[in-house]
Amino acid sequence: MRKIPFGKPILGKEEEDAVIEVMRSGIMAHGPKIKAFEAGFSEFTGSKHSIGVSSCTAGMHLYYFHLGLGPGDEVIVPAMTHTATAHAVELTGAKPVFVDAELTTGNMDLEQLEAAITPQTKAIAIVHYLGQPVDMVKVMAIAKKHNLKVVEDCALAIGTYLNGQHAGMFGDIGVYSFYPVKHITTAEGGLIMAQDDELAHQLSIKRAFGMDKHVGERKTPGIYDIQGLGFNYRMNEIQAAIGVEQLKRAKGFLEKRRSNFHTLKQAINKLDGLQVIGDEEKPGQQASHYCLVVRFDKALAKHRAEIIPALNEKGIGTSIYYPNPVPMMSYYKDKYGYKQEEFPAAASIAYDSIALPVGPHLESDDLTYISDSLSQVIQNFS
Ligand SMILES: Cc1ncc(COP(=O)(O)O)c(C=O)c1O
Repeated sequence: MRKIPFGKPILGKEEEDAVIEVMRSGIMAHGPKIKAFEAGFSEFTGSKHSIGVSSCTAGMHLYYFHLGLGPGDEVIVPAMTHTATAHAVELTGAKPVFVDAELTTGNMDLEQLEAAITPQTKAIAIVHYLGQPVDMVKVMAIAKKHNLKVVEDCALAIGTYLNGQHAGMFGDIGVYSFYPVKHITTAEGGLIMAQDDELAHQLSIKRAFGMDKHVGERKTPGIYDIQGLGFNYRMNEIQAAIGVEQLKRAKGFLEKRRSNFHTLKQAINKLDGLQVIGDEEKPGQQASHYCLVVRFDKALAKHRAEIIPALNEKGIGTSIYYPNPVPMMSYYKDKYGYKQEEFPAAASIAYDSIALPVGPHLESDDLTYISDSLSQVIQNFS
């Protein structure tokens, strides 16, 4: 039977050789690979600074820690996101205040953003949902008016452009994830993009215990000072070496994803009882197409729990992005008393949709197989 995983990292001889090179060099941290990966990422995106970290979650937490957020502070977070976007706030003691999604794109409904701002609000976290660009010009205007910091959670947004600029270039920082099934991987890993020199310097210090001098910068080996708190949120040399090779393939991966997404979307759009999430791209805009999310109309959505295993039995890997609006995750619901009625669009996406693969591991006959299989499966419930 055909087997189409939802996500699959594409790693080859180049990555293997790069990892072996690091192992043989004996330099596992603080070495040349992290510098090369950061420089490569800046070149790919146009960012002034790139700071490799251990994960996207770590990167966001590091920035909120740097801002000194704590109890009594609030950060606006989209309801439709990975829990990491909210956890990064919650871990500081500040409160994530959730804003519902737009039903057509899953991105934060910017019409509802300003109403969520209070005197306690310190920052806005924006997520480019599935790699679709959020209107950052609008977000930055609102942030400027209220004097708020902006974090772009770009975990799914390598290759996402708005007004010809890469995602992550608009906010104070943009944070990336290189978890195995992302657009490129470093096994686990993340990276912060920053345009401000002092901010980049501070984040780079705080990712490594708050040491004033990294290994290699010290006049006398072993001597450094600590002027403030920090974490061990570094990316190691093995991760960075994989990242350097993955960056070389990124353009090809993104083109294949894009073509897979449009082929699958065209076929699925012919089916009744569902919509593909995502608006048409406007000039200067580009989505990075992490996956293809299909939202079922109510009649079909009632059968989602049967549709998913039927597709899985045909060898099609599926997922759900994301399984609950974050304020409906037990931790946040119990702690803050959020109600589902406050997030109707995010709830509809979470509970009525499935996510299908479009990654570069899929070939064109896989796409036909997925759309034909979905068509057959939903016929049983129409
Ligand atoms: C929007 C978003 N933010 C953050 C993360 C977490 O990334 P990481 O595993 O690198 O911390 C994810 C993971 O999928 C995500 O989808």
